[in-house]
Amino acid sequence: MLNWDEYGKEELASPPQPVTSKSPEDIVEPKVEEQSTPTEVKSNITEGSRAEAAREAVNNLDEAAGIEELDEMMANGRVEVDQKMMINCKADLNQLVPFKYDWAWQKYLDGSANHWMPQEINMTNDIVLWKSEDGLTEDERIIVKRNLGFFSTADSLVANNLVLALYRLITNPECRQYILRQSLEEAIHTHAYQYCIESLGMDEGEIFNMYREIPCVARKASWGLKYTQEISNPDFKTGTEETDKQLLKNLIAFYCVLEGIFFYCGFTQILSMGRRNKMTGTAEQFQYILRDESMHVNFGIDVINQIKIENPHLWDDAMKEEAAQMILEGTELEIQYARDTMPRGVLGMNASMMEEYLKFIANRRLTQIGLDEEFTGVSNPFPWMSEIIDLRKEKNFFETRVTEYQVGGALNWE
Ligand SMILES: [Fe+2]
Ligand SMILES: [Fe+2]
Repeated sequence: MLNWDEYGKEELASPPQPVTSKSPEDIVEPKVEEQSTPTEVKSNITEGSRAEAAREAVNNLDEAAGIEELDEMMANGRVEVDQKMMINCKADLNQLVPFKYDWAWQKYLDGSANHWMPQEINMTNDIVLWKSEDGLTEDERIIVKRNLGFFSTADSLVANNLVLALYRLITNPECRQYILRQSLEEAIHTHAYQYCIESLGMDEGEIFNMYREIPCVARKASWGLKYTQEISNPDFKTGTEETDKQLLKNLIAFYCVLEGIFFYCGFTQILSMGRRNKMTGTAEQFQYILRDESMHVNFGIDVINQIKIENPHLWDDAMKEEAAQMILEGTELEIQYARDTMPRGVLGMNASMMEEYLKFIANRRLTQIGLDEEFTGVSNPFPWMSEIIDLRKEKNFFETRVTEYQVGGALNWE
């Protein structure tokens, strides 16, 4: 392990000496002549004209100009907790503390504790199985390809929305800190899909273009894109009822639908494969991703509910109706995706079981943002999925605090 003492010794050893057990007294410090004032420093260093120009610029630095940039934020002085708000906040966003939303900071810490990388997962068995003639059925192959096709671009859409729209429009530093963490996780997810695609020797052009070429994949992607188009325009500003509602709709589209519904059929299919000892490396990648995603969804739902609390006028009947409609449209698209990817029963499941599961998830998304359930009499046909996500980890601030997290290396099946 590095320590500062060793660092000092190595720096001073010139030319490099064999390592011996020197005592600190043996080390000769280079002599530095004492100078009375800095202007008298004699140096052999000569400098070019750019260094002189840089010094000149620093000496003439107009500090007021930089402060003017911060404008209203700095004028308000030190940040008080009560000034902090999710959207349209005027307090200085460069000051992380004092925290107002402890749950956002906690999620940043929990997400960081769950850090993992795709290369840590052994893909050898998957490669053998994928390349063997009779390792998988044609239906199982479709499931692997369609899901890698959808997810390899869906996570990029989510990342773009975070970086190009949400980061700028959510005016709270602890939430921004989590958004940065989530953005890194989305990059890791895209990396994981690329890693699977490359390991399995798939046709990259075919997989990465599915979101444009395969209708059931394309419909989901274009549904999400519709909600990010306007707000990712650099000129888009919140601050009116209309634009604030647009941001709220984007949050519902991305957190409740894209990440909260569109990922669920695919995750269930791939994890079901892993439980049957097939494509276990790919399934393990998906399991890590799902653990991250369930936290993304919970963060988004907390943000939505907090915006509602701070801006009750936005959550009027029309907005409630629109939010429910969005969640139900997403559910319908995901049901179509389930039918397309499972024309027959496969892996102990079929499209109608998935339909019930998606309706069960839709009810949950509706109630999480304070709306009524839509589907009665549905139950969860895949309780093992709940074991993995819903019950143990999918808790948000407005329900109960999450207490169970594992570090990357400790993830287990079952
Ligand atoms: Fe993701
Ligand atoms: Fe995500």
